[in-house]
Amino acid sequence: MTEQAQKIKTEAISAIEAACDENALEEARVKFLGKKSPLNALAAGMKDLSPEEKPKLGAALNEARQSITTALEARKQSLQDAADSASVENLDITMPARELPQGSLHPLTIVKDRAIQILRRLGFALAEGPEIETEFHCFDALNTPADHPARNDSDTFYFDSGKLLRTHTSSVQIRTMEKQDPPIKIIAPGSAYRRDEIDATHLSVFNQLEGLYVNKDVRLSDLKGTLEYFYRAMFGDKTEVRFRPHFFPFTEPSFEIDVKLQVKGEEPKWIEVAGCGMVDPAVFGSINESRGDNAFDPATTTGYAFGMGLDRLAMIQYGIKDIRLLIENDTRFLSQFS
Ligand code: PHE
Repeated sequence: MTEQAQKIKTEAISAIEAACDENALEEARVKFLGKKSPLNALAAGMKDLSPEEKPKLGAALNEARQSITTALEARKQSLQDAADSASVENLDITMPARELPQGSLHPLTIVKDRAIQILRRLGFALAEGPEIETEFHCFDALNTPADHPARNDSDTFYFDSGKLLRTHTSSVQIRTMEKQDPPIKIIAPGSAYRRDEIDATHLSVFNQLEGLYVNKDVRLSDLKGTLEYFYRAMFGDKTEVRFRPHFFPFTEPSFEIDVKLQVKGEEPKWIEVAGCGMVDPAVFGSINESRGDNAFDPATTTGYAFGMGLDRLAMIQYGIKDIRLLIENDTRFLSQFS
């Protein structure tokens, strides 16, 4: 009987080795290790054996089962390996991979981030306010009278509710002073909207960066020094900066700032880049009224404010001739700035 076990084992192993797929292998498993296997049949005869024979047969059966199991596992693995290598047979692993298109920052974002970086070094914190504004925050609190041309329906986008799309980021000056006490030193980059005729230098949406510093004893020289430093950091050490007297309702005195620059491929010339001035005491008056205190006492509180066009900066920096390119999302244009 021990020889029979041996024979069954040999037969099983050759059947397993001949199995050419998983189904054939499973059939062999059922045949040789299943309930009705010849080994089980042999085991059933064990009870008729003598006490000396029994353990011998037992050992032979165990050894046969063990060997069959090992052979099954080995065959299963080799079938799997063959399937794996067949599935990658025609794969050329030396072929170059398909390139994923790499994104890049928008030129406006690059310029805005640089401007923020420079101004944060000077101690300005970031502030923000809503783009849908009240007339109070956009105009009245900024000392802009009801008959000011900027408030015309033809210049500003109004909603039926009476709110409007902010025409400048100066409204963030008001928003900030309403909730913070002096000293205040903030910048507020963001979008602004005007009903402009669209052409190469005008869009109905554009981007500004507002600055506000309020404290005791803030002087015009602080404003000049800060902005000169800023534009030199932005455009180079030798950049000339000019302050031209101007008028804004919310600053007194007021200036426009020109920077002498060479737009790529052109002669150097003065380019207007910002408006600025010393905060008009009337603005502090409106803030106190709105807050119901005297935290911005016009007798002792001073400050400066500036507002620069970011689209303009990006156009100068990169020699972009048409502002509309900044909003068209044409990747052929945008990918040049990566
Ligand atoms: N808000 C002004 C504009 O949009 C710019 C400005 C900001 C002027 C702050 C003075 C002070 O033209």
